[in-house]
Amino acid sequence: MDRVPIAIVGCGGMGGRHLLGLKELHDTELCNVELVAACDLRRDNAEHLADDAERLLGKRPLVFERMEAMVEALPDLQGVDITTDSGSHHAVASEAFDLGLHVLCEKPLAVTIRGCNMIMEAQRRAGKVLSVAEQFRRDPMCRLTKAVLDAGIIGDPYMLFQISAGGGNQIIILPWRHDKNQGGIVVDAGVHTCDLMQYYMGDAREIYAHTALYEPVRYKGSRIGVAHFYEHWVGEVPDEIEATAVDSLVSLIRFESGATGQWTTFVAAHGRGFSQSGIYGSEGSLHSPGARNGGPVTVCLDRGGELTGDAVLHLVPDFHLDPTTARLFGEDRWGSYDFTFPEADRKLVAVEYQEFGECIETGRRPEVDAYVGRKALALVNAALESGVLNRPVTLEEVESERTAVYQAEVNAYWGI
Ligand SMILES: NC(=O)c1ccc[n+]([C@@H]2O[C@H](COP(=O)([O-])OP(=O)(O)OC[C@H]3O[C@@H](n4cnc5c(N)ncnc54)[C@H](O)[C@@H]3O)[C@@H](O)[C@H]2O)c1
Repeated sequence: MDRVPIAIVGCGGMGGRHLLGLKELHDTELCNVELVAACDLRRDNAEHLADDAERLLGKRPLVFERMEAMVEALPDLQGVDITTDSGSHHAVASEAFDLGLHVLCEKPLAVTIRGCNMIMEAQRRAGKVLSVAEQFRRDPMCRLTKAVLDAGIIGDPYMLFQISAGGGNQIIILPWRHDKNQGGIVVDAGVHTCDLMQYYMGDAREIYAHTALYEPVRYKGSRIGVAHFYEHWVGEVPDEIEATAVDSLVSLIRFESGATGQWTTFVAAHGRGFSQSGIYGSEGSLHSPGARNGGPVTVCLDRGGELTGDAVLHLVPDFHLDPTTARLFGEDRWGSYDFTFPEADRKLVAVEYQEFGECIETGRRPEVDAYVGRKALALVNAALESGVLNRPVTLEEVESERTAVYQAEVNAYWGI
């Protein structure tokens, strides 16, 4: 199979995680992309990723600091995988399209709707593929959750709860996640949640939120980030930073379907953290474990008690994972799985890469395209707008940019 030549742009923590995903795909007959370059404004980070790539893939990608120089040196390059920090996505993705490249872009697509719209306009001009690397919904347990809902097993969905607390006053991974102009932690983590909520429940119409910043000063914790992905940069994290992005959001969502949601994300919680979620329908409830932990989906039905794990599979006999996910996870139906977080993480990134290569080759539309990626950000940013306006905000007014009070400062910072 011919492999599509691609580059990773942004060689920090997530760039390294994507490389592990590429290795996962590389080890199968499904591999349809090839890493030929690593690009980062910080040459040391690009060299670091290139070293790892040589060890993992057996071939060292070329190293660049600028995409323009990369395209000049590699005229056959077809696509970029953008894993730069979130505030730069609008500029990096737009430049990539203007250079004639296909784009796989980490979530969030941008940190403001204007940023998303800039990228979408550049994509239209270029006529290239744009896929947003939103992997949570691709987890086999999230696919099963969606299948159970779509089969009407719990009846009509009435109510969704998604509530979590944790974080205290520690720096979450790297300082930029507390900078309003980079989105902030509520955007960074919240787009995953907002994508999943709308994947399950359909589009949201409106959100009414209260937001706050409780911890304006954050401190370096004993470890940073998930697994060992950020170990290389531990020494660069300052002991103390000023946070400008909100760390608390409590909200009420109305979905187009008429269902209601309650979404709370509180990342300034000291003491005991917790996370609870559930979807309640006219005939029962559904409890999903979330992504990359392999826990079982549990269904509680008025007509017949509690079902969990493989028993849930019997409720959806026609449910099968797509062939790529099934190949990478080893089965096309899982009631639960016991891969570790890093194992599941890299399999999901591998699925994203395979889809990106296939979309470039066939012209197929990616599952999480620009509209789906923007929809996730629109829900988070509508909540942030609601937090300053103190009224319910519709997604329509945010997506059309009729309302951008919270976002105005961020747009001004980036000069867009
Ligand atoms: N899907 C997920 O689960 C997940 C998890 C973590 C991070 N992310 C996303 O991945 C992105 C990167 O996050 P991270 O934690 O790796 O950040 P990071 O700070 O570790 O790495 C970002 C890298 O991008 C480089 N960079 C910044 N601007 C650039 C530019 N204009 N051109 C080239 N390089 C540039 C930086 O020098 C750095 O090396 C963010 O958008 C984040 O939201 C997603």
